[in-house]
Amino acid sequence: MLMGKNKLKRFAENETFENLFQHNNHDINNEPFVLKGKWHTHYFKNSNPIVLELGCGRGEYTIGMAQAYPEKNFIGIDRKGARIWRGCKDGIEKNLKNVAFLRIRIEDIEHYFAANEVQEIWVTFPDPQLRKERKRLISPNFISKYRKILNPDGIIHLKTDSRELYEYVLATAPAENWQVLNNIDNIYNNVAETSILTEIQTFYEKKWLLEGKVISYISLNIKSSYHFISKL
Ligand SMILES: C[S@@+](CC[C@H](N)C(=O)[O-])C[C@H]1O[C@@H](n2cnc3c(N)ncnc32)[C@H](O)[C@@H]1O
Repeated sequence: MLMGKNKLKRFAENETFENLFQHNNHDINNEPFVLKGKWHTHYFKNSNPIVLELGCGRGEYTIGMAQAYPEKNFIGIDRKGARIWRGCKDGIEKNLKNVAFLRIRIEDIEHYFAANEVQEIWVTFPDPQLRKERKRLISPNFISKYRKILNPDGIIHLKTDSRELYEYVLATAPAENWQVLNNIDNIYNNVAETSILTEIQTFYEKKWLLEGKVISYISLNIKSSYHFISKL
């Protein structure tokens, strides 16, 4: 299939962005990733907590949260170059030093971060993968990978339009020892007017809202310690 000119232009521009790291299967087999265990010292140059957005698409959460929380570092992750291009460009235009993007397969995430290097993970509007549980970004398969890089008191946030995925996570949590910290059935009915949950709307969120879908939110701790967020 021929690739569109626009896509090729974005791919070429991606090669020049200082806030984007791209890596593929070939690289994984041949070399360790240079920033693994070194994101704080070699990229962000501070010791602030690192927050990932998985399947970030155009990076709206990564950029919006980086502006709202300058005391944290944000890394948007996606495999699609033409989408992640938008986030990189926004980060550069807004001169955000607490932002990076990583174009990889989330399956390989352990190759890019060391134990305890990550403090929070956001999963924003993932494909619910209703036929294949192993492919769901919140499933025992993927959570076992996140456990290897997330701090013991770290938090996973899920925003979804999928009723099935929302119910699946709630039903799976007890058996997997995932502690549900917050569970909001419909964020537009239940959270304070000024909340990061409703203030940032991603490309897919806008699309689902136009279709009248309900947007839900769950936060989890996947290790045993208890952690409570009083205000979102
Ligand atoms: C439905 S889109 C949501 C994008 C964005 N979060 C939003 O809300 O607009 C899902 C995104 O996840 C990415 N994605 C899905 N599975 C992935 C994987 N295994 N590795 C990397 N990216 C993945 C896709 O490329 C896509 O951009």
